[in-house]
Amino acid sequence: MNWYKKSQKKRVHSLALPLEEELSEKGHLDYDDDENLWFGAYYLKDDILEEEGKMLESRYPEMRPLGSGHEGIAYDIGDGKVLKLTFNEAEYDIGQTLIDNPSPHFANVYSVEKLNQSYAIVLEKCQLWDTSEIRHEEVEKILGALRSNVYDLFGCFANLQEITDDNVGINSKGNLVVIDLGIM
Ligand SMILES: Nc1ncnc2c1ncn2[C@@H]1O[C@H](COP(=O)(O)OP(=O)(O)O)[C@@H](O)[C@H]1O
Ligand SMILES: [Mg+2]
Repeated sequence: MNWYKKSQKKRVHSLALPLEEELSEKGHLDYDDDENLWFGAYYLKDDILEEEGKMLESRYPEMRPLGSGHEGIAYDIGDGKVLKLTFNEAEYDIGQTLIDNPSPHFANVYSVEKLNQSYAIVLEKCQLWDTSEIRHEEVEKILGALRSNVYDLFGCFANLQEITDDNVGINSKGNLVVIDLGIM
């Protein structure tokens, strides 16, 4: 299978689909040739990230795609850490702010880096929040409390609508924390 070749002509955001389908069907992706190894870089924007993708793969040889949303793609890089590649500069800024002022309401941020085309953020890998057994009102109540804590930190600059169940996870201490720094 070579999903990059199959999907490279599609629009950027639609590329998440074959990746996620394959992941959920098989639980893993095939890495049977060099191109498949770094579809994640291509995923973001055609081939402009080729160089960055190569560099990151040599730095994190274990990197495997974990998930993607509107702005970027997250990779498991082992050691309980996630690499988030994004085009959103705000994530870089928030990441730096959280390194300087760690917050219990966010996943731990270990490093932020500006690459040529994108931003690379290394953060704590969290367990995803499974809300399937929780009442909608309860989920909203919990998210509301988290939004209020984030508002206390970042004030009106924060786009609290981005704090959704997809963008929060459970950290190693068992606390619900924001994992997607794209909140501005
Ligand atoms: N720290 C993390 N721990 C575990 N999974 C993560 C982490 N960061 C991202 N993910 C997974 O990757 C997905 C996309 O990452 P996210 O930062 O939300 O990207 P986007 O900005 O594109 O929405 C998340 O919905 C989640 O499934
Ligand atoms: Mg997200």
